[in-house]
Amino acid sequence: MPDTESFTEHLLSQMTLDEKIGQLNQITVGPDFDPDMLRQGKVGSILNGSSGVLTEQGARTTTRAETANYLQQLALQSRLKIPLIFGRDVIHGHRTVFPIPLAQAAAFDPALAEEAASVAAREASAEGVHWTFAPAVDIARDPRWGRVAEGFGEDPTLASRMAAAVVRGFQGEDLSRPDTLVACAKHYAGYGAAEGGRDYENSEISEPTLRDIYLPPFESAVRAGVGTLMSAFVDLNGTPATANRHLLTDILRGEWGFDGFVVSDWDSVAELIQHGVAEDRAEAARIALHAGVDMDMVSRAYLETLAASVRDGKVPVDEIDEAVRRVLRIKHRAGLFSHPYADPQRAAHSQPTAESRQLARRFARQCMVLLKNEDGLLPLQGFRRILVTGNFAHARGELFGTWTLDGRAEDAVPLSEALRQAAPRDVELMFETHVDLALHVAHHADAVVLVLGEHPSRSGENANVSDLTLPAGQAEFVEAMAALGKPTVLVVFAGRPLALTRQVAQVHALLYAWHPGIEGGAALAEILFGYEAPSGRLPITFPRATGQVPIYYNHKNSGRPIVADGAFRTRYIDLPSGPLYPFGYGLTYTTFRYNNLRVSDATLRNRITVSAEITNTGPRAGREVVQLYVRDLVGSLTRPVRELKDFQAVDLRPGETRKVTFTITEDMLAFTRADGTRGVEPGNFHVWIVPHSQGGLRGEFAL
Ligand code: GLC
Repeated sequence: MPDTESFTEHLLSQMTLDEKIGQLNQITVGPDFDPDMLRQGKVGSILNGSSGVLTEQGARTTTRAETANYLQQLALQSRLKIPLIFGRDVIHGHRTVFPIPLAQAAAFDPALAEEAASVAAREASAEGVHWTFAPAVDIARDPRWGRVAEGFGEDPTLASRMAAAVVRGFQGEDLSRPDTLVACAKHYAGYGAAEGGRDYENSEISEPTLRDIYLPPFESAVRAGVGTLMSAFVDLNGTPATANRHLLTDILRGEWGFDGFVVSDWDSVAELIQHGVAEDRAEAARIALHAGVDMDMVSRAYLETLAASVRDGKVPVDEIDEAVRRVLRIKHRAGLFSHPYADPQRAAHSQPTAESRQLARRFARQCMVLLKNEDGLLPLQGFRRILVTGNFAHARGELFGTWTLDGRAEDAVPLSEALRQAAPRDVELMFETHVDLALHVAHHADAVVLVLGEHPSRSGENANVSDLTLPAGQAEFVEAMAALGKPTVLVVFAGRPLALTRQVAQVHALLYAWHPGIEGGAALAEILFGYEAPSGRLPITFPRATGQVPIYYNHKNSGRPIVADGAFRTRYIDLPSGPLYPFGYGLTYTTFRYNNLRVSDATLRNRITVSAEITNTGPRAGREVVQLYVRDLVGSLTRPVRELKDFQAVDLRPGETRKVTFTITEDMLAFTRADGTRGVEPGNFHVWIVPHSQGGLRGEFAL
């Protein structure tokens, strides 16, 4: 196969204007589907293909692979036989549903996320999917926003590591292999700052904050070789992302050298009219194309207006050519010209396997975060009769979380069943989901496990909440159960941080399980009964109350910082200061001591090392996510009070001490300075090696 560039140029040189514009058009297959569109080369991509399409021969396709192949053979009847690229939202697994991305970030284990993404690629590609609209790498500081579930939390360093890992997992070493997926970093950019946590609302982000907080995960995905990006719905500082040339061309192409293609989010080209930056569809299409959106998701504004705009001299044909070149480049890199069809023999690879389930279970376990464990109530030991109650007691598909298009509830063992299978022989588990009966049954129990939280439909796109406390009725249930005075564990399933201040005071142990995926029940059992210890850490700050939002660890110091005993002790007169639980926080079944922090040099010339000794001071082995933070004390712009720069997970046996060493290089300290350039500034820094983003061992160095 000739190299991509020469192949692409040669093919482009043969294309008519209409064939070029057809490649920039992405459709779904609905009731009005017209097969001739494919034959005429008017479609470049199909997304979220349904599993059953009525063929012209009157038969209905039955499998997703069969449907893809039926549609592909129509496209290959076109004059130039350019294959379709099939896209789909394979966000956190295909049939093997892994924890939601926010939960994945809580594992602080990018390698695990990479492995999970490669499984998802194998399963989805076996069904004819070529391209996934993932990873979502939107930084989010507002848990009211439903899509906080889909990103990797509030920190740019963690989100950047996760973004690169997931891109590598989906795309593999060789994107032309049929068991890989083209990845798509989304939603570019600033979508997570939607005002009020209200999806689709506008974001106001200063350029320094945009560049230092919201863009790094996208740049990381580009550096990892991501094939595509998706422009966001959001109106960013007055220019919708889909019309934002500064984002889509100046930064993405000019600064980062991205050579893949950009697809708009659903209908967002036509929505430029609603935004009020385009009079009509023709202007919307012109603006989006000029900004740098190469493919139009389902609005058909490109298909229906660009040819006339070119003829009217309003759109230069080389803008069309450049967009088509990018699309053809990715199709060629993905090997679609050599293997356009799904191999029916591979369809079996789309199913969960024992190995993929093991991986999902390990991932689910490593995502769960232990937030409270009074008197070592967990792991549950010595209790003969345990009541498990709450809306998740028999959860199956509810464990999957948002955006699980292909997860099947029947593939998941119900939570109750998983707990029963794992419970020690001398433990009797009782399950009751009727609130009134639960109180009665609890009298006969030695301990109570409450399994509560958000149904996945309260999470994801436009599932925004104005109140972060537990869903209606659950707080009262916790209160009633806790009043019985039994040892009580609260397990919360959710797609976002919830404000659990009341519940924390009422229960003895609190475990955050997020939406843990297909093996969430078994993973929970392993932790509850102590076969494994929890090791997750918070990828996002947990507020005490909704009114505290936005609240995040890498905040600015202000001129009147909160000091424990000073005049400016708090920011709210009705709340203690600070979050309920900080970024990076999480407990396990043992304890750790940090000491002997050492900084290799007082002055950083091009690198220094910082080390500390971590000792497992508790009774059992444990995994500690050791975190490195810095603070730039003085800058030409105000600087965050802390910034995560690296992390390492260490597994320590009881009594074991490990010296953990980090390297700090100058480029890790770069930021967007007052003059708008990116770089470092001489001065003094604090550095911490700590278990989370508050307090801990501190050192110093100068640059
Ligand atoms: C949706 C989402 C986007 C998704 C796309 C295709 O509206 O915003 O994340 O990939 O449309 O389903």
